[in-house]
Amino acid sequence: MRVISAPHEFNEEDLYVDLRSTVGRSLFLKCEGFNFAGSIKLKVAIEMVEAAERGGALTPGSVLVESSSGNLGVALSVIAASKGYRFLCVTDARCNLSTRRLIEALGSEVHIITEPDAQGGLLGARIDHVRALCAADPRYVWLNQYTNPGNWKAHYRRTAPAIARAFPHLDVLFVGTGTTGTLMGCARYFREWHRPVWIVAVDSVGSVAFGGPPGRRMVPGLGMGIRPPLLDESYVDEVVLVEEADTVRVCQRLARSGFLFGGSTGTVVSCAMDWLDRHDGRELTAVAIAPDLGERYMDTVYQTNWVREIYGEDALIDPSATAVTR
Ligand SMILES: Cc1ncc(COP(=O)(O)O)c(C=O)c1O
Repeated sequence: MRVISAPHEFNEEDLYVDLRSTVGRSLFLKCEGFNFAGSIKLKVAIEMVEAAERGGALTPGSVLVESSSGNLGVALSVIAASKGYRFLCVTDARCNLSTRRLIEALGSEVHIITEPDAQGGLLGARIDHVRALCAADPRYVWLNQYTNPGNWKAHYRRTAPAIARAFPHLDVLFVGTGTTGTLMGCARYFREWHRPVWIVAVDSVGSVAFGGPPGRRMVPGLGMGIRPPLLDESYVDEVVLVEEADTVRVCQRLARSGFLFGGSTGTVVSCAMDWLDRHDGRELTAVAIAPDLGERYMDTVYQTNWVREIYGEDALIDPSATAVTR
């Protein structure tokens, strides 16, 4: 039995799905969705909040404010509610309704930005709004996940050591990238480890994070419209960009095996499958990180009409399909 008195005291850190029977490749998927925030961002939220408390930036009466379109907003709502802070989440029209409802149900406030900034787009307008709030009222504290070292340190201290304990002979690690916090924390940890690990950063086509041309991106979680300030490419061995139609197909196929994962998991697994085929990965120990579960994607990745409209009929798998073979 485990008994907790604060939501962040529970986080399943040791659960892996062996995908051999599901995708036909030797690949272990680290499941990060089993906690009260439903995603890997719980570790980031608690790391950043407690660092701000220790540093004196966050005191009783402070109001947390953050720009987030999803999982970090939910995670900060959980932590803020548990610790007695107010939290204001600045998001935009792309934030899905269920995520917004989750944040509000946890007692946080949501500001929705509708007008993009001429240069910085909606993300730029969100950040301008956060800056304006902080300038107008000293109670507002912006943790800023895009630049906060607590973002990568959470994974350096927790995610990567957990993988290292479970797979002492790890050869290759596949990590999806948004802010690049997960990537940088894991890559830094494994750079110092007892054996070399090949670090593959996985992003969506259309993200400019690694210098690619901008394009339409509809699956939330992965990708950036700017170069991520936390990114240091000297720690990354390989970058792979995945088409969103492939993301959606892999998510649907995993779901047909009973594993309902979030959109970015489809991206990372899609990349890993191709990579393992290209490198004859049968003898390799390979791990991929699954940042969340699928319930938040019912109106997108798992909605037939949405998929058909955005990616066309080819992105929909045969309803009778069970194994992920491609
Ligand atoms: C579902 C999902 N996948 C991947 C990521 C990317 O993680 P990171 O910001 O650490 O690069 C995020 C970040 O919000 C996410 O919510």
